[in-house]
Amino acid sequence: MAQLWGGRFTKETDQLVYNFNASVSFDQKFYKEDIEGSMAHVKMLAAAGILTEAERDEILDGLNGILEDVEKGTLQITAEYEDIHSFVEANLIDRIGDTGKKLHTGRSRNDQVALDMRLYTRKEIDSLKELVKELLAVLHALMKEHMDTYMPGFTHLQKAQPITLAHHLGAYMEMFKRDYGRLCDIRERMNYCPLGAGALAGTTYPLDRNMTAELLNFKGPALNSIDCVSDRDYLIELLGCLSTVMMHLSRFSEEIIIWNSNEYRFVELDDAYSTGSSIMPQKKNPDIAELVRGKTGRVYGALMQMLTTMKGIPLAYNKDMQEDKEFAFDAMDTAKGCLALFTGMIKTMTVNKENMRESAKKGFTNATDAADYLVNHGVPFRDAHGIVGRLVLYCIEKDIALEDMSLEEYKKISPVFEEDIYEAISLETCVEKRETIGAPGRKAMEQVIAINEEYLKSL
Ligand code: ARG
Repeated sequence: MAQLWGGRFTKETDQLVYNFNASVSFDQKFYKEDIEGSMAHVKMLAAAGILTEAERDEILDGLNGILEDVEKGTLQITAEYEDIHSFVEANLIDRIGDTGKKLHTGRSRNDQVALDMRLYTRKEIDSLKELVKELLAVLHALMKEHMDTYMPGFTHLQKAQPITLAHHLGAYMEMFKRDYGRLCDIRERMNYCPLGAGALAGTTYPLDRNMTAELLNFKGPALNSIDCVSDRDYLIELLGCLSTVMMHLSRFSEEIIIWNSNEYRFVELDDAYSTGSSIMPQKKNPDIAELVRGKTGRVYGALMQMLTTMKGIPLAYNKDMQEDKEFAFDAMDTAKGCLALFTGMIKTMTVNKENMRESAKKGFTNATDAADYLVNHGVPFRDAHGIVGRLVLYCIEKDIALEDMSLEEYKKISPVFEEDIYEAISLETCVEKRETIGAPGRKAMEQVIAINEEYLKSL
């Protein structure tokens, strides 16, 4: 048991208590950030005249040595240490002797851990941003490719009106653009340095908090020492954002699963992104999409866990807050993995344009356009709705589509119909006439794609 705080105790900690209290099994994930933070702290201590330059250099060498040895695998982070902070400090003292004991001057583990977790999370946000960016780039490329891939648009999972695949994918494009924006916002808001807050009340040493903030690329020091050692809002925000990312990926996965089903065959997932069955030789399953959908629950769980952990904690630091790590780490890893795999999956899937088109032609997706035709010929919309309803009923009885009816049959139901009805309800017309921005028509889509092109360049 390597502890930093034995002095005022008369007994050894019970082993079970020690194990229960320890966090090294999971906080070793940010060993690099812990060392990086210590280096900045030591540089600042020397600049403020609290350490000599020689002491600073000795400590920096020692910290560098620890970092290198951990990365090489010659130094193991073991359960012998209570947490990553104890591990680094104990090793430093082993390595360089008494000077190492000066590292923790003007610092508490409370501001130290607040810093480490922020540094780690900030780096994770940057990786997450990259992954969302890659997904956006793939969606953008697919949109450009599928401006005339007609498909049914659905409401209630019932065919509603014809759209294009580009238009459908464009919906996800917007969702992930917002997710990207949320990641940027969170990064901005969290980017203040807690180092120098001490346990909760700052220190009497003349620390230069601006200097450490700058060395660690923060916008500045956090302005309240109580707040910044006990604030985990940024994690709650991030988990909220990742829950939304996962919700989006999950909805999209659900659609891919449906589109990839034997009944739909709108898309076919690449073999590299599918799995087989141990018993049924014919099976090719969309396990990746299902796993993404399934893992969404883990990320929601992490958000709930963090909100619940924080809700009753009086200011400032309490040990409950050590629970901010495992679920959050898992959520970040899960979201990163899902984003990467999902992007690969949609990039490699084959789109079955013909099946999509055939499906769009069935199911009366042009019924609204038939009603609009009547409206354009002077029939009030409500009456037009009724007339087309009768057309649909007639077609259902005869098992045909609206465009399969003869003009004579049309005229029997309403004399307003003329030869040009066929053109008015063709798939092309139904899609291409919808050209106000945001709609599926090519003109509108081209505008949106141009805007997205600029947006992607700006990221
Ligand atoms: N392992 C602790 C955590 O993650 C480090 C901070 C310990 N501070 C303390 N006052 N016991 O929260």
